[in-house]
Amino acid sequence: MKFYNDILGLIGRTPLVRINHITKKHGIKATVLAKMESLNPGYSVKDRIGESMVDWAEKEGVLKKGGTIIEATSGNTGIGLALVAAVRGYKSVFVLTDKVSVEKMRYLKGLGADIVVCPAAAKHGTPEHYVSTAKRISEETPNSFYPDQYNHPANPLAHYRTTGPEIWEDTEGKITHFVAGVGTGGTISGTGRYLKEMNPKIRIIGADPYGSIFKTYKESGQVPEATPYLVEGIGQSLPVGNADMKTIDEIINITDRESFELARELARREGIFCGGSTGTNFAGALKVAKDLDEDAVVVFIVCDTGEHYLTKFVSDEWMKEKRLLEPQRITAGLIAETKHSGAPNTIISVGPDETVSEALNKMSENGVTQIPVLDGHASVGSIRESHVLALLLKDREMINSKVREVMDASFPIVEMDESIDKIKHKLTKSPAVLIEDFKRITGIITRSDVLDLTS
Ligand SMILES: Cc1ncc(COP(=O)(O)O)c(C=O)c1O
Repeated sequence: MKFYNDILGLIGRTPLVRINHITKKHGIKATVLAKMESLNPGYSVKDRIGESMVDWAEKEGVLKKGGTIIEATSGNTGIGLALVAAVRGYKSVFVLTDKVSVEKMRYLKGLGADIVVCPAAAKHGTPEHYVSTAKRISEETPNSFYPDQYNHPANPLAHYRTTGPEIWEDTEGKITHFVAGVGTGGTISGTGRYLKEMNPKIRIIGADPYGSIFKTYKESGQVPEATPYLVEGIGQSLPVGNADMKTIDEIINITDRESFELARELARREGIFCGGSTGTNFAGALKVAKDLDEDAVVVFIVCDTGEHYLTKFVSDEWMKEKRLLEPQRITAGLIAETKHSGAPNTIISVGPDETVSEALNKMSENGVTQIPVLDGHASVGSIRESHVLALLLKDREMINSKVREVMDASFPIVEMDESIDKIKHKLTKSPAVLIEDFKRITGIITRSDVLDLTS
């Protein structure tokens, strides 16, 4: 019979997949390969260290039967450790920050772990920081193991023993550049050390979010003040033991926008559904590859799966909220849908047989300066405050006239999938546009809605 003894048997031996369309679009001649760590049983690169750190603790007698594993994690190491805990009968507690996606939190709970959430804004070294909190809980819990992935040698060692050799063998020693993010530094330091031992010419490149310290730290030895960024799992505000700066040749800074756009593009163009830190790595790989010839082989890490971020950068709404959405994805429908933070976009309108006075009341009640005139579901005109007030100055009695007698032309009408660029153009000539869906006017977009989005 062919089977694995348990799920941990599936960790590692992940394949390399060539990137085709996106590299072609950028005119890249080098071979760019994705190391598919998202195909591990916990869907991330961290399964490897979950297993290796627990193996170490068992061998050293640190973790005994019925013990508890406690770790500070951005989620994936927790998932890797929780898999081992489930299979080997340990309890587990993971301390995360409130930046971690709800998907990863629920995943951990689903694997039977307990979670503690700390503020991401807490400074390193303060009691509220997630690392201090994990340490404290482990000190207070008898028969517990606190792996400390940031400093534990079994973290880079797992990559030295498995990830590095796999890449070397699968590329038949042809790899020329390796690109990975730096969270704990385990992946890049362990894999990089192995690859450099096999061929010292291989370039080891760190992809780091703007706001993290690693680039400045590598280049100057100084630790700058870290600033917030949105990509999860990589970058730090202080140097960490497992990030071996001697193994890393170069660090490239990548913006949140580049990371998320490329992670989304990897899914759409190559079918590789990955997390944001993979986008960071891929951005680094593209920057490196653009100057290389066809003999170069660039390998980057696909750290985890997009399923961990369904409510985050995978969603257009989240991207729009963070002002990161690619302009071609911002459509009339999306603007209307998210205009009132998810509340239904009920359109305020007047009928052609209502009076000017009723129309003005509606406008002032709702704080708007223009209003569409709808006859049933069709738009037949518009009332614009400035025009009506000018008419009233001439003839006060107009206040009792019917809307149809004083109204202006209808606002232009767009379909749900109209792009923001076309909408903007229409808004240079009209103060608002109306959205039509299945022959019904369902929404209105004003100049300030678009300014809100793009400012
Ligand atoms: C999503 C994600 N990507 C990348 C990394 C970085 O890997 P490493 O800690 O080996 O540097 C992590 C680590 O937590 C992660 O969670």
